[in-house]
Amino acid sequence: MGRIAYVNGRFVPHAAATVHIEDRGYQLADGVYEVWALFGGKLADPEGHFARLERSLGELSIDMPMSRAALTLVLKEAVRRNRVTEGLVYLQVTRGVAPRDHAFPNPSVRPAVVITVSRVDRAQSEARAAKGVGVVTTPENRWGRCDIKTVGLLPNVLAKQKARAVGAVEAWFVDDLGFVTEGASSNAWIVDGDGRLRTRATNANILRGVTRYSLLDVIRENGLEVDERPFTPADALAAKEAFITGAGSLVLPVVSVDGKPVGDGKVGPVAARLRRLYIEQAKASAI
Ligand code: PDD
Repeated sequence: MGRIAYVNGRFVPHAAATVHIEDRGYQLADGVYEVWALFGGKLADPEGHFARLERSLGELSIDMPMSRAALTLVLKEAVRRNRVTEGLVYLQVTRGVAPRDHAFPNPSVRPAVVITVSRVDRAQSEARAAKGVGVVTTPENRWGRCDIKTVGLLPNVLAKQKARAVGAVEAWFVDDLGFVTEGASSNAWIVDGDGRLRTRATNANILRGVTRYSLLDVIRENGLEVDERPFTPADALAAKEAFITGAGSLVLPVVSVDGKPVGDGKVGPVAARLRRLYIEQAKASAI
C-alpha cells in the first residue's frame, strides 16, 4: 500500500497530493507546522505540540483549522491509513489560498492543511544514537520570532546543509555574544563539568521545544540538576557530554563540535540514559 497524505479535507495518494500555487505557505512562508514522533502508532507529547500549534497560529492570527479533538482524529486517521507505527507526523497549516499580496487576505480565507506521515527505522536511529553525531556551528541569522514554528526555514535549511556537507548531523546557531541558541531543527544541551545539565532558557529567541520541556520533567523526576543558562561552543567542548533534543532526534548524543571532540569524544552515560528515559515517558504519554 502506498503512502497517503491529507490535503484540505481529503486523504489522497501521496504522489498525487498537491496544493494551489497561490497557497500563502508556498509563496510567502505564511504558515506554521508541527512534528510529532510516533511510537507504536501513537502521537508522542500530544499536549505540548497541540498547545504550541495553537500558540503559533494565534501569534500569526491564523484560525485553528478545526478543533483540537477533530484534528487529533484526522492525525490519527492519517497514521492509520499509512500503517506506520514508528515514525513522524508532519502537520502544516498555512493562512490559505489567495491572490498574492503581502498583507492578510480580506476577507480572510480558510487555512490550508496538509498532513504527511513518514516511517522511521528505530534500529537505525538507535545505532546512530549509540555512536553519537557531530554538529557544526554557524552564525545566528534568523528573525526575531523563532518561538513561532513557522515554515519560513531558509536559514535553518542553509545551516543544516552546512552540517551535511561535512558529515555532521546538526548545525548550532551561535549568537552575537558567542552563545549557542539552538540547532537548525533541535534544542542544544550540555552536561557541564559539575554534571549539571545546561540548555538555553526559552526567553531567548529560540523555539520552545516540546521534547525539551518533557525532558526537563524527566530530568527533575530523576533528581538531576538543570541550569537554563546559555553556553558557548567552547563550553560544549570542555563539557562532559552534549546532546540535542527534538521530535525527530529525540535525545541524540553529540560527540563533536566543528570536528573537535566533546569531552572524551564518546557517547556519555547521562545522554544515553536520558534518551532511554525520554522514550519511556513519550511512549507512556502517547495517544
Ligand atoms: N524541529 N528548534 C528548532 C529550530 C526546531 O525546528 C525544532 C523541531 C526544535 C525541537 O522542538 P521539538 O522538541 O518540539 O520537536 C527546536 C522539527 C522536528 C522539524 O523541523 O522537523
